[in-house]
Amino acid sequence: MIIAIDGPAGSGKSTVARYIADKLGFLYVNSGRVYRTVTFLCLEKDLSISEEAIFKSIPWNEISIHRDYIAVNLQQLSDELHHQRIDKLVPRISSFPMIRKAVNNIIVNTSKNENVVAEGRDMTTVVFPDADIKVYLDASIESRAMRRFNQGISDQTFEEIYKAIEERDQVDQKKAVGALRRSTDALYLDTSGLTIEQVCEKVIKSIQG
Ligand code: CDP
Repeated sequence: MIIAIDGPAGSGKSTVARYIADKLGFLYVNSGRVYRTVTFLCLEKDLSISEEAIFKSIPWNEISIHRDYIAVNLQQLSDELHHQRIDKLVPRISSFPMIRKAVNNIIVNTSKNENVVAEGRDMTTVVFPDADIKVYLDASIESRAMRRFNQGISDQTFEEIYKAIEERDQVDQKKAVGALRRSTDALYLDTSGLTIEQVCEKVIKSIQG
């Protein structure tokens, strides 16, 4: 069984997807983290930001997805994937078609013979168009920025987070490939006025039919 959840930055999809995966005993797949890992490796290896160079230099076979981190061989990556430098560069790197194909392969292979909850920007549209359950989570920029701010993992002010989300939304929407799109057959939930618990309740209700 595949549950696919998409939405913009800070819409609550990671928290909701992880909660549902844990509750149902499914594997949690955070696709954004894989793009962040590729971006992290580009910076670490000081690669030129060209599609071919990145495609050739990333050790694709060594990347594996886990509930709380991504492993690249023996290196476990989690908090370091949320540095501002990565936030800024990831929309550009994730707009390269060859990179998207390689990342999608990792996600699809990870999901073979597994029940998964996969979240990101194109899980309901491109990667798992035949998912059993599709959800699109949305929220106003204010409430998304407030959630990020309250998470306390960023050293930016609320205003800086707001502006960064606004900018990232624009880059993400303009992408020729991998742009966030709302699938017509996805359950649409605006989470602005809702707590994470209320959102999870609504999604679980829809899963249970
Ligand atoms: O958590 P947040 O929504 O801020 O970002 P994320 O899910 O960690 O994804 C980081 C970035 O990766 C996004 O801004 C997108 O540019 C890109 N991404 C993508 O292109 N496709 C996905 N399926 C997931 C993320």
